Amino acid sequence: MPGDSQQINRLADGRRFVARRHRQLKAAGRRAAGEAIHRTWELIGLYGAVGPDTVRGRRFGRFGAGSVICFPPNTIFNEHYIHIGAGTMIGPQVTLSAGMMPGQQCLTDPVVRIGDRCLIGKGSGIVGHLGIEIGDDVWTGHHVYITDQNHGYEDVTRPISQQTMPERAVTIGSGSWLGYGTVVLPGARIGRHVTVGANSVVTGELPDFCVAVGSPAKVVRHYTNGEGWQRTDLV
Ligand SMILES: CC(C)(COP(=O)(O)OP(=O)(O)OC[C@H]1O[C@@H](n2cnc3c(N)ncnc32)[C@H](O)[C@@H]1OP(=O)(O)O)[C@@H](O)C(=O)NCCC(=O)NCCS
Repeated sequence: MPGDSQQINRLADGRRFVARRHRQLKAAGRRAAGEAIHRTWELIGLYGAVGPDTVRGRRFGRFGAGSVICFPPNTIFNEHYIHIGAGTMIGPQVTLSAGMMPGQQCLTDPVVRIGDRCLIGKGSGIVGHLGIEIGDDVWTGHHVYITDQNHGYEDVTRPISQQTMPERAVTIGSGSWLGYGTVVLPGARIGRHVTVGANSVVTGELPDFCVAVGSPAKVVRHYTNGEGWQRTDLV
């Protein structure tokens, strides 16, 4: 009967309309929920950041004006041995520590010193025991690791983890830049205005005004007054 088929078509149209509306509402709900999550995350980042006037910022030996540790931080302890200059930004998920464990009394103070206007990349670690000194205007890429302590391994009858931990101070001169993934090992002394290539491992001394790359990092370019920048292998 024609009347019956018209009624069936109308019912099918109705079902399609309801299903479409349902899908639209679900998509709108997902968009709204997604946006709410992002806005909440931004607010958490804003209010979770550590600044000089926050409770956590005041735990540091020094926390200069305009400096910030972005949220979320990674492991941070013995902050009173850590000095941060002014206008410095420490990225999120950065580890900053002095000594082996919270509450430990360190031999030096400050143990870690970071200068003014520095930028420490996301996911980096600055793990000091004796002395890590980072000058002013030092920028690093993500996932840079700087430490001044090794583990002794000489005694083969004891686990390495239980042997002495020889420390050698580390310095990084003002105006330098460490590329992504750089590792700075105990005893490293990086001069001023030094570029360290991505994924390099710095073990020794790098003079002022040079570019060093590789593992161990070797100088590939250096600057002299009059000559400007020159490739080291062409000199
Ligand atoms: C070091 C760097 C800055 C380039 O400096 P540059 O003076 O222009 O050096 P060049 O590109 O001329 O390279 C010189 C030599 O070093 C090598 N080199 C460059 N970067 C290197 C690295 N990271 N590791 C190993 N070797 C590297 C080059 O291959 C070249 O070798 P060759 O002479 O045998 O061909 C760049 O390669 C780099 O590593 N940048 C880091 C980028 C980064 O991490 N950004 C994060 C944002 S903060």
